[in-house]
Amino acid sequence: MRREHKINVSRKKCIGCGMCVKDCPVNNIRVKDKKAVIKTQSCLMCGHCAAVCPKAAVSITGFSEPPVEINGRTVLEPQRLMDAIRTRRSVRQYRQEPVDAEIIEQVIEAGRLTPSGENAQNVSYIVLQREMERYEKTAVLFAKRMLPLMKIIKPNARNIIIDDHFFFKEAPAAILVLAKDKVNASLAASNMELMAEAHGLGVLYSGLFAMAANHSFALRRMLKLRNAKVVTVLVLGYPNVPYHRTVQKEPADVRYL
Ligand SMILES: Cc1cc2nc3c(=O)[nH]c(=O)nc-3n(C[C@H](O)[C@H](O)[C@H](O)COP(=O)(O)O)c2cc1C
Ligand code: SF4
Ligand code: SF4
Repeated sequence: MRREHKINVSRKKCIGCGMCVKDCPVNNIRVKDKKAVIKTQSCLMCGHCAAVCPKAAVSITGFSEPPVEINGRTVLEPQRLMDAIRTRRSVRQYRQEPVDAEIIEQVIEAGRLTPSGENAQNVSYIVLQREMERYEKTAVLFAKRMLPLMKIIKPNARNIIIDDHFFFKEAPAAILVLAKDKVNASLAASNMELMAEAHGLGVLYSGLFAMAANHSFALRRMLKLRNAKVVTVLVLGYPNVPYHRTVQKEPADVRYL
C-alpha cells in the first residue's frame, strides 16, 4: 500500500551541485540560487534524489525504514551469479522440512526491493504454509475438470496424471505473487527465487496453480483474491533431489544491431 510522502531539501546542507537534477527520472528538480528546489510532490517517489545527494540534503518522509548508507559498491561476482542461474532447477521433489519464517520474510524482502515500472510498488504476496492441502485439494478438483480440454489443446499434457500433490509436490510453503502488472510481479518473483536458492531452498514456479487460482471461483474465494491477479506462484522447500549436471538449453535468439 502506497503511503503519503513528502520530499524535503535542507537549504543549509544543499551545495547546489545538481546531482539530484541529473538523476531525477521526471525532471522534477531544479537548482535556483544554488539550492535544489522540488517542483511537485506528486512524482514517482523513487528516492533517487535522496540516494544520490553527496550532502544528504534530501529526505523523504513517510517511509517506515531509513535509507541505509552505502559504503563502496556492492559487487556481484559474475561467474558466481552465472553459476547460480545455470544450476538452479525447477524442483518437484521436496523434503518434509519446514522453512523458517525469517527465510520466508527474506524471500519476500527480495521481491519488495525489486524495481517496478513507475516505481509503482504494486506487487503483493500471499504465503501458504498451514493449510496448503486445503487449497491444493480445491485446485486439484478444478484441474481434473479442466484436464480433458488441456489434453486436446496441449499435446504435452496427454500423459499428465493429477494426483493429490499435483500442484505443491508436498512442499512446505508456497508464495503467490499478485499484481496488475505482469512484468513487475515476474521481476519480483525472479529475485525471490534467487534469494530462496541462496538459502538452499528449491523453487517451482507453478503456472498451473496460478491458473487455478485465477479461474476457480472456489479457490478465489478461499484465497480472498477479490480483483487481484495471481501472476505466478513460487512453490518452495528444501529439495529432496540432487542434480548431478546442468540441463541443456537452446541458444539465445539474439540480434545485435
Ligand atoms: C512461468 C512458469 C510457470 C511454470 N509452471 C509450472 C507448473 O505449473 N508445473 C511445473 O511442473 N513446472 C512449471 N514450470 C517449470 C518449467 O517447466 C521449467 O522452468 C522448465 O521446464 C525449465 O526447467 P528448469 O526450470 O529446471 O530449468 C514453470 C516455469 C515458469 C517459468
Ligand atoms: S523522488 Fe524521484 S521522481 Fe521524485 S524528485 Fe526525487 S528523483 Fe525525482
Ligand atoms: S544533490 Fe544534494 S547537494 Fe546537490 S543540488 Fe541536489 S540536494 Fe543539493
